[in-house]
Amino acid sequence: MTDQLIIFDTTLRDGEQSPGASMTRDEKLRIAKLLERLKVDVIEAGFPASSNGDFEAVKAIANAIKDSTVCGLSRANDRDIGRAAEALKGAARGRIHTFIATSPLHMEKKLRMSPDEVHEQARLAVRFARNQIGDVEFSPEDGYRSDPDFLCRVLETVINEGATTINVPDTVGYAIPELYGNFIKMLRERIPNSDKAIWSVHCHNDLGMAVANSLAGVKIGGARQVECTINGLGERAGNCSLEEVVMAVKTRKDYFGLDLRIDTQHIVAASRMVSQTTGFVVQPNKAVVGANAFAHASGIHQDGVLKARDTYEIMRAEDVGWTANKIVLGKLSGRNAFKQRLQELGVAMDSEGEINAAFLRFKELADRKSEIFDEDILALVSAEEVSHVGEQFAFVSLSQHSETGERPQAKVVFTVQGKEVTGESDGNGPVDASLKAIESHVKSGAEMVLYSVNAISGSTESQGEVTVRLQNAGRVVNGVGADPDIVVASAKAYLSALNKLQSQAERVAAQG
Ligand code: KIV
Ligand code: ZN
Repeated sequence: MTDQLIIFDTTLRDGEQSPGASMTRDEKLRIAKLLERLKVDVIEAGFPASSNGDFEAVKAIANAIKDSTVCGLSRANDRDIGRAAEALKGAARGRIHTFIATSPLHMEKKLRMSPDEVHEQARLAVRFARNQIGDVEFSPEDGYRSDPDFLCRVLETVINEGATTINVPDTVGYAIPELYGNFIKMLRERIPNSDKAIWSVHCHNDLGMAVANSLAGVKIGGARQVECTINGLGERAGNCSLEEVVMAVKTRKDYFGLDLRIDTQHIVAASRMVSQTTGFVVQPNKAVVGANAFAHASGIHQDGVLKARDTYEIMRAEDVGWTANKIVLGKLSGRNAFKQRLQELGVAMDSEGEINAAFLRFKELADRKSEIFDEDILALVSAEEVSHVGEQFAFVSLSQHSETGERPQAKVVFTVQGKEVTGESDGNGPVDASLKAIESHVKSGAEMVLYSVNAISGSTESQGEVTVRLQNAGRVVNGVGADPDIVVASAKAYLSALNKLQSQAERVAAQG
């Protein structure tokens, strides 16, 4: 019998809690479909009780996904659990993940509950959840900083109540690999019914050790589920990164001796889709999915790799989905070639109407840009998604003038609920003038907390992909826009962020 490691992806829940990373229902659905192609075992789709939008997203994902378990998070109370159960009704395989904090600090300062009250609430929550669904995961939030005796008592009780997976979060990223591994081992050895549940690790990256801690939880502690996110997305310094943990277990099978269901060829596509949807750019030297992860710049390395690849490469770039920056489509490519390339990139489109709209945008781009790369196609479909959020604002056209020694001027035409308006302004540079032109009309009052430009496929002929992060009344959103003209890309990104500010409902944070 093989020893299987379960990959539990929480990009759409814990990853989405990162300020500015919130996604629309359709964006989440699209990512969930790619996670299913990646053969993730469990997709944590959201936190249904946190907002109506998230409830609808989890429901849509539960109805669409057939090959992965779909999970919904809930606090340890009947209302949250009931909402999760309702959202998961249509799932082929559903899981409720319920949690309550067990560390002295969290119980006293956040929950204002005694340990006995927390113990009882955990017991009742798991009992209630098991009455709704057969697959129930329990997490003692801030578990790693909890008193071991108390934690053993709570976990023994919830396993008796039918919890099928026990997840031990290092909520604040405080753990050290050896200590965390031994902590899981200690819990499994001390809890008499520990063999009735699958043990899971959930590590945050505040000290940069989320992946190492998770792997120690597996190797030393005997955990058989890892909770992780694409690109390590998540609050603060993020979560354990899926691509790193998966490739570590696969590349060092000699050490871990574990099997994975993951189809690693979709890793790069998933990384790009998450980055382009959220606007969280992947650092070039990021393991596995960074642009430089397989690039050999030094002469000695290049020489070695040309002679024998494994002199400097421990993984093959193509095994994780890297293709050489090749021209994939052009002006003359037809709708079928475009549709097939979308499928190869893992982009699922439901309706013919959606494909037609994306194809139209592709044709417009191909008219202006002779070579179209995979990155362009992904940007184009992500940008299309973003531009549909709420449909409050949509870009129409832009003209600007800049000349050395003169203050740049911009005129932007855009629609507000379908009606065309024009904004004009000057600014420090053409981008500044264009965004001020939009703001002169919208008057959102939002503060810009981040502006970044990235050349999608590396050269000056590339499309520029712009991320704009806006903050208003305590909410933070990211807008992404792509265009061969970076001033236009900036205006699109700004309008997309304004759309998100308009449409995003108040949400309850999972760890709040
Ligand atoms: O980090 C954490 O403790 C969590 C729980 C809600 C599982 O994300
Ligand atoms: Zn977490």
